[in-house]
Amino acid sequence: MFVTRQLPGGALHSLDQHCNVTIWPHSSPPSPEQLRDACTRAEGLLCTLNDTIDQPLIAAAPHLKVVSSCSVGLDHVDQSALAARGIALGHTPHVLTDATADLCLALILAASRRLAEGEAFVRSGAWAQQPGWDPELLLGRDLRGTTLGLLGLGPIGQAVARRALAFGLNIVGWTPSGRQVEGVMSASFDQVIEHSDILSLHLALTPQTRAIINADILSRMPRNSLLINTARGGLIDEDALIHALSHKHIGGAALDVFAREPIGADHPLLDCPNLTVVPHLGSATQGTRAAMTQLAVDNLLAGLQGLALPHAAPPIGDFS
Ligand code: DGY
Repeated sequence: MFVTRQLPGGALHSLDQHCNVTIWPHSSPPSPEQLRDACTRAEGLLCTLNDTIDQPLIAAAPHLKVVSSCSVGLDHVDQSALAARGIALGHTPHVLTDATADLCLALILAASRRLAEGEAFVRSGAWAQQPGWDPELLLGRDLRGTTLGLLGLGPIGQAVARRALAFGLNIVGWTPSGRQVEGVMSASFDQVIEHSDILSLHLALTPQTRAIINADILSRMPRNSLLINTARGGLIDEDALIHALSHKHIGGAALDVFAREPIGADHPLLDCPNLTVVPHLGSATQGTRAAMTQLAVDNLLAGLQGLALPHAAPPIGDFS
């Protein structure tokens, strides 16, 4: 059994009581070739979203019975190829819902109240050149009465809605499944795009949702609106976002996720005004990451024994 990363919490320690386990010892993930080599004899694979689980890997792993991803998102996995071989697939839903929704609210607040600009202003010494409190300095937007649009109303979108209600935001939402959520006014995709002062993404990344936020969509968002993404970077056409931000077609963006991660300091997004960025931290709390590891271990052990996975991947095509 192969684990591609040391993971927080104690759950990995229990694995060697049950099976012969190799844990990748390095701080960066294995390359695709290293992963293929490691999987040639493995019956179980515990991976993260950094590992691409594709056809070549699956072909190189003739004994594989289960892939357990320590993530809720599964866009790094070729689910059809696993299904065709009868390999079970598990993920880590629900335990990261609150942490990710909390981070989403942090980004909404940061973008609305211009925290990144404020911090840069203080650290650069620019504030010290001024008399002190300034009635016009870095004025942001009030949240109360502002319209928050949610694309995707799965558990994380719903948890964001609950938090946003407490801030007095009006919430509109669209989801591919048409699900109704308390406190959220259901709207069409176009209505959400065109009427949201703040637009937050909570969709899985699939062929249907890739670059769902493109140049056309960005041009239809209100001029001063904010775009928040704690889901997957591939939902946004980043070139189009760079254009929209630098030409002030939208008011700003706050991003936890990027089309290719990590991004370097020279990434053109970072030259954009009104951009807040963090390095894929949605689930990054100690308790949440430990809980994710535990679920991933539970899935792996069940799969090795040929049992139904306690947290099996949703059916292919469920992308709300
Ligand atoms: C996930 O689990 O899919 C998050 O993006 C990382 O925790």
